[in-house]
Amino acid sequence: MEKLVSSWYKNKPLPESYIFPPETRPGNLTVPTCKTIPVIDLGKAEGRNRTRIVQQICKASEEYGFFQVVNHGVPEDLMKESMDVLKEFFEMPAEDKAVLYSEDPRNRCRLSTSSVNYAREKVHHWRDNLRHPCLPGLEDCIQLWPQKPIRYRFSIEAKKLGSRILEFVAEGLGLEPGYFGGELSEFMQLSVNHYPPCPDPSLTLGIAQHCDPNLVTILHQGDVNGLQVFNNGEWIRVEPLQNAFVVNIGNQLQIISNDKLKSVEHRVVTNSNLARTSAAFFIAPSGDSIIEPAKSLIGQASLYRAFEFKDFLLHYFPNLENNDVVMERFRSQA
Ligand code: OGA
Ligand code: NI
Repeated sequence: MEKLVSSWYKNKPLPESYIFPPETRPGNLTVPTCKTIPVIDLGKAEGRNRTRIVQQICKASEEYGFFQVVNHGVPEDLMKESMDVLKEFFEMPAEDKAVLYSEDPRNRCRLSTSSVNYAREKVHHWRDNLRHPCLPGLEDCIQLWPQKPIRYRFSIEAKKLGSRILEFVAEGLGLEPGYFGGELSEFMQLSVNHYPPCPDPSLTLGIAQHCDPNLVTILHQGDVNGLQVFNNGEWIRVEPLQNAFVVNIGNQLQIISNDKLKSVEHRVVTNSNLARTSAAFFIAPSGDSIIEPAKSLIGQASLYRAFEFKDFLLHYFPNLENNDVVMERFRSQA
């Protein structure tokens, strides 16, 4: 399929349609390296140290909306094998990828490129994307996964890790155990991003700035730099750490925590010599779930009205790059 960047990028200059307007271009790519997001060692999370880890997770979620976890229990060889399989997927011949290519968002397993609406967007993003649901109903979802060459246990481990982190977050917020279990975290989608080497990284983006609309995201970013997080008025980079997962707070977790935890804007820059592949597991509520701030966290005022998660998504996608506009719609009227 000729639209997939990975199928045509070789030996071509950056097409005009991939050039962002000056105000959203990454421009100078040297972001401060001294500042980065916290790294939390989950190997120390049981027994006497549990409370300390819970505090670290909550503090990072308040200040950065992002943190990385190491010693998280997902086997290293499984991570490596899974990432190899995903990279291989994008290296398949164009004909094999073309079979899966689709611009119809209703298609449950979908290989696409750029952002959500290729036909209507102003600027294309320098990335290809493969996504499909993993949960609920793993058995059914497996039927949707590409036959060639994907086969993985990765998603089960990612869900376990996600549930564990949500338990820490619940504890830190003073919510009862299992608060985020059930329908609030019923859905999980795997979204694999592939960013081929780019002829001019200063003019384009792999993904423009956005917040994730779900509850929490568990991301394996592989070993190539690219992810940046907005913090205190500047973009800071998320250092790739071997065998770590990046965790970020989604919009729904910010809302349920009544703004205690932050869903923070992030973006992906490209680079000129290495391809980058990342795997994001989006843990999300079921469409009919009612989302609202937890009763015990309301304090003086509930900052958001109750709504159904599917309504959030309806407003999210048309305003992808403007998080404030989306969140504003769901705030309670003072
Ligand atoms: C995303 C995302 C970051 C990355 O898919 O929402 O932010 O490093 N991905 O690919
Ligand atoms: Ni994201």
